[in-house]
Amino acid sequence: MNDGGQRRYGPLGKALVIIPTYNEAENIKPIVARVREAVPEAHVLVADDNSPDGTGKFADEIASEDDHVHVLHRKGKEGLGAAYLAGFRWGIEHGYGVLVEMDADGSHQPEELPRLLTALKGADLVLGSRWVPGGRIVNWPKSREFISRGGSLYSRVMLDVPIRDVTGGYRAFRKETLEGLGLEDVASAGYCFQVDLARRAIAAGFHVVEVPITFVEREIGDSKMSRNIVVEALWRVTGWGLTARAEKVGKLLGRKSS
Ligand code: GDD
Ligand code: MN
Repeated sequence: MNDGGQRRYGPLGKALVIIPTYNEAENIKPIVARVREAVPEAHVLVADDNSPDGTGKFADEIASEDDHVHVLHRKGKEGLGAAYLAGFRWGIEHGYGVLVEMDADGSHQPEELPRLLTALKGADLVLGSRWVPGGRIVNWPKSREFISRGGSLYSRVMLDVPIRDVTGGYRAFRKETLEGLGLEDVASAGYCFQVDLARRAIAAGFHVVEVPITFVEREIGDSKMSRNIVVEALWRVTGWGLTARAEKVGKLLGRKSS
C-alpha cells in the first residue's frame, strides 16, 4: 500500500453498481430495489449469463420501469470474472467514474454501500471486508468460513498482499484504478478473479482500503461455489506466488552478476 494520505484524489464520478447473476430470479428484484433505496443517485447494471431461470427477463422488467437500471445480457455461463470484465467495460464506455461489485443474493448489503463510497474519496480501491475488526459474517456454515479464511490467508502469504479479505466480492473501484490494472490479460474465471484484481492493485501501487462489512449468507437460491472454482483459485494463486518469487530471485542474481 502506498501513502494514500499524501495523495490528492479527484471527486468521485457517477457510480455504477454491477451485479453479476446466474439463476437469481427470486433475488434480483429485492436487491435492485435495496440499491436504489440506499444510494438513489447510483445506477445499476445487471450482468446476466443467460440464466435458465429467467433472471435476465426479470431484470429487463425492472429496467423498463427505471432509467437507472441497465441489463447486460451475456450468451452463457462464463464465470463471475468474465461477467465483471464485461460490466466494467460497459461502465467505463458509458462514462461512470466509480464501479462497484456486488453479489445479487443479499450477502453484500446495499445499506453499507455509502460507507464504501465515503472511503473511496480517499482511496483508489475499497474492499468490503469480513476479516477486519468490525467485520462480521451471519449464517455462514463453519465449513464455508474455513474455506474463505484459509483462502485469504494462503493468498496473503503466497502473494505477499497486506489484505485481510482478499477473496471478498463487495468492492468499489475508481475508474482510473481499473484502467491501471491491465485487465486485458485477466484469465481468472471464477472467484479467484477477486484475488487477481486485489494483487494487481497492490502491485500497481494503488491505495487499497478495507472497510468492515457484515456479510449475510443468502436465504434464497444456491451458491455457485464449486470444486472447480476452489481448484482454479488454488492453482492460480500458487502460480502467481511462484512466478513473483522467481522474478525476485532473478532480479537478485542479475544484480549480483552485473
Ligand atoms: N453472470 C454470472 N456468471 N454471475 C455469476 C456466475 C457466473 O458464472 N457465478 C456466480 N455469479 C453471481 C451469482 O449469481 C451471485 O450474484 C454472485 O455472482 C456471487 O455468487 P455466489 O454463488 O452467491 O457466491 P458465494 O456466496 O458462494 O461467494 C461469495 O464469497 C466469495 C468468497 O469470498 C462471493 O462474494 C464471491 O464474490 C466471493 O469470492
Ligand atoms: Mn452468495
